[in-house]
Amino acid sequence: METLTLVGCQFGDEGKGKIIDYLSKDFDINVRFNGGENAGHTVVVGDKTIKYHLVPAGFLGAKTVVISNGVVINLRKLVEEIDFLKQFKGNFDLKISEMAHVVTELHFKRDKYLEQLRGAGLIGTTLKGIGPAYESKFGRYGIRLVDFRDVNRLKENLDLLSKIYQIPYDEKYIDSLVQDYNQIKGYLFDTRSYLETELEAGKTALFEAAQGTFIDVESGTYPFVTSSHTTSGGVTVGTGLSPKYFSKFIGVAKAYTTRVGEGMFPTEIFGTDADKLRKLGNEFGATTGRPRRVGYLDIPMLRKAVKLNSLDYLALTKVDVLGKFDNIKVAVSYESNGTEIKEFDPMHGPDRINYESFKPWGGSEGKLQDYVEFIQDELGVPIVLIGVGEKRDAIELNGKMVLT
Ligand code: GDP
Ligand code: IMO
Ligand code: MG
Repeated sequence: METLTLVGCQFGDEGKGKIIDYLSKDFDINVRFNGGENAGHTVVVGDKTIKYHLVPAGFLGAKTVVISNGVVINLRKLVEEIDFLKQFKGNFDLKISEMAHVVTELHFKRDKYLEQLRGAGLIGTTLKGIGPAYESKFGRYGIRLVDFRDVNRLKENLDLLSKIYQIPYDEKYIDSLVQDYNQIKGYLFDTRSYLETELEAGKTALFEAAQGTFIDVESGTYPFVTSSHTTSGGVTVGTGLSPKYFSKFIGVAKAYTTRVGEGMFPTEIFGTDADKLRKLGNEFGATTGRPRRVGYLDIPMLRKAVKLNSLDYLALTKVDVLGKFDNIKVAVSYESNGTEIKEFDPMHGPDRINYESFKPWGGSEGKLQDYVEFIQDELGVPIVLIGVGEKRDAIELNGKMVLT
């Protein structure tokens, strides 16, 4: 069986969408397994831009796309996204897990409330109700798509949520939820059994994580994280499939680093250099439009990502952007208490960072190749795909992947 699991290596927005879109044409099935509409995965198709939030970014390439149980779904958003995507592919096969939890307006309100409560220590969430949706899932008072089979059960669940959150809701809200549910009902499936059967029959699948390694709720810079498992381990629980189906992993890293929201960012840069890089890379959030914090590539961070995710391959994106920047540096190691440290620790920032400088390559292939080889050698993982532009075909192959 051939499967490949793709994860983000930094803080999200690494360019996963474009890489998934590219890879998906070689897979039968593309599965999204975590997060919700906090994700924004961009694919530029001709003069149109698609921002996938809930639907897998391999929608155009894969024969079947699956939203599995680990995803939390805002039904209104999903209905709108499907309607939007129909113009690009009228005849599609989408399957959605009936076990997936639903993000309601109560979760949105709770997200806002919790951020306000934190005051200056806020997380900087996308305010899409994601944390609360996982909070209610793990608290065992969540609402699943399967609950919509019986409107009384749905109402009982909403009432419990409303009591726990101390947030009222209007009875009419149930009608609007049910209306949206009716529009996606036809896509509901036992996706776990479906995937198991198809994989056993020899079908191939590309599994897609949202967000990035260091905003994983376990392995990230807690509490400045999202509330799901964004690392490769998340794929088993997020799909319900046993670990035996997963053996090959690819990480997507941007040629520099960006972060939206609060939290540790050792190689962050400020001032005019930061403004320049942000502008060159058009670094504004795909979901919220917020300016992204920017910084240098962080090899200690990528070393950790390689280990945490068992990465076999890497895709490096936005080298065209970095090549135009006139102050290219790469963090090669850290120092703490006078000792050199090779790996990022999400719990403790370093005292000092050791950098190496690189000359901008502009259009020079040779100098770009030096940068790529340097990263590859430092990490001991082949960079097989290189993103050289925003358009979906602006990708250079730099080696082959073997998935069996
Ligand atoms: P994702 O969340 O990881 O899918 O990434 P986003 O879509 O949020 O952000 C990545 C941004 O960079 C999007 O605007 C992409 O269109 C763009 N992008 C992706 N790869 C490249 C690349 O190689 N070069 C350039 N210039 N832009 C890229
Ligand atoms: P993609 O899939 C970048 C960040 C938010 C915030 C933190 C918690 O496009 O890479 P949340 O709303 O999830 O509770 O916010 O996580 N965040 C992302 N940052 N890319 C994303 O997704 C993100 N999804 C969440 O900015 O710091
Ligand atoms: Mg994004």
